[in-house]
Amino acid sequence: MNPYLVERLQPFGTTIFAEMSALALETGAINLGQGFPDTDGPDVVKEAAVDAIRSGRNQYPPGIGVPELRRAIRAHQQRFYGLEYDADEEILVTAGATEAIAAALLALCGPGDEVVTFEPYYDSYAACIAMAGATRRVVTLRAPGYTFDPDDLRRAVTPRTKVLLLNSPHNPTGKVFTRAELALIAVIAQEHDLLVVTDEVYEHLVYEGEHIPIATFPGMRDRTVTIGSGGKTFSFTGWKVGWVCAPPALVAAVKTAKQFLTYVSSGPFQYAIAVGLQLPDAYFTEFRREMRDKRDRLCAGLADAGLEVLRPQGTYFATVDIRSFGETDGLAFCRSLPHRCGVVAVPSVVFYDDVEAGASLVRFACCKRTEVLDEACTRLKGLAR
Ligand SMILES: Cc1ncc(COP(=O)(O)O)c(C=O)c1O
Repeated sequence: MNPYLVERLQPFGTTIFAEMSALALETGAINLGQGFPDTDGPDVVKEAAVDAIRSGRNQYPPGIGVPELRRAIRAHQQRFYGLEYDADEEILVTAGATEAIAAALLALCGPGDEVVTFEPYYDSYAACIAMAGATRRVVTLRAPGYTFDPDDLRRAVTPRTKVLLLNSPHNPTGKVFTRAELALIAVIAQEHDLLVVTDEVYEHLVYEGEHIPIATFPGMRDRTVTIGSGGKTFSFTGWKVGWVCAPPALVAAVKTAKQFLTYVSSGPFQYAIAVGLQLPDAYFTEFRREMRDKRDRLCAGLADAGLEVLRPQGTYFATVDIRSFGETDGLAFCRSLPHRCGVVAVPSVVFYDDVEAGASLVRFACCKRTEVLDEACTRLKGLAR
């Protein structure tokens, strides 16, 4: 068990993001810790939310989400991946991807079951697996390449394994799983009759490589719960509109758990995200281009500051190895960084069970205005070593 998780999450303690964001506030530091953009998404989507509020769409939406949004999610999966889902039976709107992850794990596994996931992992995975009463088994993605040993994956799967929890593009590493890796995961899932829960919130933020939903692999659609996020795709993270696409029995199971979590959420924002999902391809291309520029700028600035950068292929994040700075303890580094130079980052070790594997890694968010990224890099460059 990761001691940092014990310290930070159990029982329901403060997450590293809350701790680091509080530190940013306290010190006035630039917060490259938490992954949220510092500019809003498209005006047309914002206006759609205002319209929905003004036109009185402010009461509980239907439990599975407003039909406009479910139809837009269906069309999005069809347009980008050729995946067909029934908008009434196979799509469920959730309170962000966060609730989708929680409801899926609560619905699909319990005491005695094991969930296999890759580490480093997004922190809510460990908490939700624990809340479901299941056991986490991890396969390590090893820096700097973040590949995994197929034998590690085979060994992690036991007769108790129920769910394989996947995340691509991957937070915190920025890894985009390759077709060959996904094909292997798909074969193992079928050999062992596993369900796959796949968190694809960064699906539109792939800078190198290609996002391939695992549900598109032969035999996978019927055992896969795919999770998306309107907050991530349209830069409105505070609206908390997410979704699940899966076959009817799996959606029904996730819905059963979801109805006792939030029941419903984000009524007017659901209509707005429906508008976003129908934007032309140009929006998605431009969004990716803008974020790729930010990724490039942050990576160049971090390298210029003397840090070894593990260049991400996607997502909001870039990782550095602070051994290039002559330091080894990422947690201590991040706790001192706001005081030393006015920048907040997140120690990647909190995302690992194998603390050795992540001890010297630190994650920075690139989804900020360029002047903010530049200023953060200038401050890091001036850091006394
Ligand atoms: C991998 C991953 N999954 C899920 C989420 C949560 O998404 P949402 O804001 O839609 O709940 C995040 C947010 O940072 C994330 O990085």
